Amino acid sequence: MSKAVRVGIVGAGIFGQWHLKAFTQLQNDGDAELLAISDLIKDKREKAAEDYGVTPYEDYREMIEKENLDAISVVTPDAFHADIETSKNHPEQLFMVDYHKRFDMYHIELERTIRDGKLGNIHYGYAYMEDRIEVSRDWFRSWPVGSSPFWFIGTHFVDLIYWLLKSKGDKVFATGRREKLKSLGVDFWDSITAQILFKNGATFTVDAGWTLPEGFEAIVNQGIRVIGSEGIFEIDSQDRGAGACLKGKTQRSFNLGLYSEKHTPDGKVIYGGYGIESIMEFAYHANYVLNGGDINDLKGLYADVDDGFEVAKICVGVHKSADEGGTVIDLDTL
Ligand SMILES: NC(=O)c1ccc[n+]([C@@H]2O[C@H](COP(=O)([O-])OP(=O)(O)OC[C@H]3O[C@@H](n4cnc5c(N)ncnc54)[C@H](O)[C@@H]3O)[C@@H](O)[C@H]2O)c1
Repeated sequence: MSKAVRVGIVGAGIFGQWHLKAFTQLQNDGDAELLAISDLIKDKREKAAEDYGVTPYEDYREMIEKENLDAISVVTPDAFHADIETSKNHPEQLFMVDYHKRFDMYHIELERTIRDGKLGNIHYGYAYMEDRIEVSRDWFRSWPVGSSPFWFIGTHFVDLIYWLLKSKGDKVFATGRREKLKSLGVDFWDSITAQILFKNGATFTVDAGWTLPEGFEAIVNQGIRVIGSEGIFEIDSQDRGAGACLKGKTQRSFNLGLYSEKHTPDGKVIYGGYGIESIMEFAYHANYVLNGGDINDLKGLYADVDDGFEVAKICVGVHKSADEGGTVIDLDTL
């Protein structure tokens, strides 16, 4: 019988719930064993343990020691993620950064179009991602300094562009504002806008912010446009064609491409969407390796440790430039 990956999750917050759901679904299909959850907050770990039938731990090190796990999903705040450099020293281990924008079907089509040469040489592009203000003001108010709109959401589009271009960053220039959230007692950047020159000569502007007004129709506004010598490709990732306005509320739109639920006749939930599929790909790949497959044969969409390192380097450069008021940063010097 083939082996299914034994998993523990660190972090039972907002996105930890998505990992709990994805691994529960994998478990239902015999593709994973979801054993444990670790969270520093008692209520959160105990609720997750009850909802998903897993063992709760306060300390993830105790979870690792006791559960004989094959894999760990880290879903802690941005500043507390595993040290990528450390993982770089273990090429025999499967390491995936959950940059799930690669799994959005529109982005898969864009990547294929570029790879087939249909846009010609990529000259420039623009990506934007903006959250409504409750994300920065309320959800993550308790996060210590160590995140920003560029770490939280901008990084996803930087990874997407890096994946589309198959090229490393060369230089960055970034500026930002720090006034609105500060006036509300939250010491985060409101927004950062960056220009990134890649080594293949393409330049992309990436805007990331998290102060959109509460009346905005979705929790996230986002999109990308890419212009090459032979064509243009534009994706509005926020407006996917569905809207609703319910009594007492403002107009709302939906991104079912990110997350969706269907039900089986016996009442089980089937989770879908690129936010779930990327986590599932990790389990499929882990199972391939656990059952004797060669880690070097894996050809998934996922971002590996080198990708994570390159994208993090661009984001570090962006923050350095913004902190210095807009200096040009040569990424090779970082
Ligand atoms: N919320 C989203 O929409 C979203 C979407 C995509 C990605 N993410 C990413 O997911 C990660 C987690 O975000 P979130 O929204 O779940 O944040 P969150 O604040 O809701 O949850 C983080 C949880 O981690 C726990 N935690 C912190 N340190 C810990 C430790 N050492 N051991 C065990 N538990 C610990 C906290 O108690 C908290 O419950 C972040 O990197 C975020 O960028 C979030």
